[in-house]
Amino acid sequence: MTSLSARSRRAGEPEPNPLELLTLTELRRRTSMKWRTYPPDVLPLWVAEMDVPVPGAVARALADAVAVGDTGYPAGTAYAEALNGFARERWAWDGVVAERTAIVPDVMLGIVEVLKLLTGPGDAVIVNSPVYPPFYAFIEHMDRRVVEAPLDPAGRIDPGTLDAAAERATRGGRRAAFLLCNPHNPTGVAHTRDELAAVARLSEARGVRVVADEIHAPLVLPGAEFVPYLSVPGGERGISLMSASKAWNLAGLKAALAVAGPGAAADLARMPEEVSHGPSHLGVIAHAAALRDGGAWLDALLTGLDANRSLLAELLDAHLPGIRHIAPEATYLAWLDCRELGLGDDPAGHFLRHGRVALNDGRDFGTGGAGHVRLNLATSPEVLREAVRRMASTV
Ligand SMILES: Cc1ncc(COP(=O)(O)O)c(C=O)c1O
Repeated sequence: MTSLSARSRRAGEPEPNPLELLTLTELRRRTSMKWRTYPPDVLPLWVAEMDVPVPGAVARALADAVAVGDTGYPAGTAYAEALNGFARERWAWDGVVAERTAIVPDVMLGIVEVLKLLTGPGDAVIVNSPVYPPFYAFIEHMDRRVVEAPLDPAGRIDPGTLDAAAERATRGGRRAAFLLCNPHNPTGVAHTRDELAAVARLSEARGVRVVADEIHAPLVLPGAEFVPYLSVPGGERGISLMSASKAWNLAGLKAALAVAGPGAAADLARMPEEVSHGPSHLGVIAHAAALRDGGAWLDALLTGLDANRSLLAELLDAHLPGIRHIAPEATYLAWLDCRELGLGDDPAGHFLRHGRVALNDGRDFGTGGAGHVRLNLATSPEVLREAVRRMASTV
């Protein structure tokens, strides 16, 4: 592994794999959640932070802003314009129109604000369990009810299950929303155009509004494609939350964008002005720089993640064959079914206590999560090897 100090790239040289640039000693100097929640003898492969340096384009944009004291409040449409350029280039999609966007503090708070526009207290929000745990916490905190529509055994949306959940959610003529996770955390499924079109048809038929969390959109790995929910037939009434925070590791630089389809523009226009005071100006600068100038860095990351995805499959086959695992199509998260290992409902607790590896506890992801763990692949191959070695030594 190259140490931070040894890393200096000449113009024109290819972007190196960002997952191989930092040593464990350097990473342990970090003060973020991933590195400070557990003692130093624990390898942290849990919360969705990546073991990468700040992308060059982002570091330069932040340094330029600091150099001129540009540390005030955010203004303008730079974020929307940068996302528009990225969406056109990467997804051949021209649906990010600045007038139909709103900057929000981050994706989760954006979801809360959008759900406030589309539902009232006591109304239901459908989620596809197992799913990103804060979906439950944020929905319940805002006095909405969670209705689960569990994914099928392959981790994909089951239209029949979703329809039954929509029927329950709207019973008595109540308003309801479906919080779609596209691509899906934790199964790493990138929903296809057909699957999303089926969601749109069903949501129209049941009168359920779709809010799409598309934070992992740039992180689609070779072999799959990202389809923006708003781009499918019937998706025009949806609202998507997008952000550069996952793909360029910018969660500490708060900002995100709500993007409305043409049929939801009037809804998004009701977003209170004060919501736009939440994102940080430096966050907006960082996210816009990543989307505009961080393409080569992202490609190098995706190559590294693809290699880690294969490495993990090989390591599990060789050392932990009792774990069932469908390789992710997108995200840097792997969802591991540990039920055959006989470790009970909480294998994450077992691997932490006996192997000193921190993973996410599957039970936090709702129905279908017990007996599973979520592993964060966005680290060096060395750390990944050591993590699996430690896990295997405990069974
Ligand atoms: C599906 C999903 N949504 C939202 C978030 C959090 O995003 P933010 O920090 O912008 O609220 C994450 C973080 O991992 C996530 O995986």
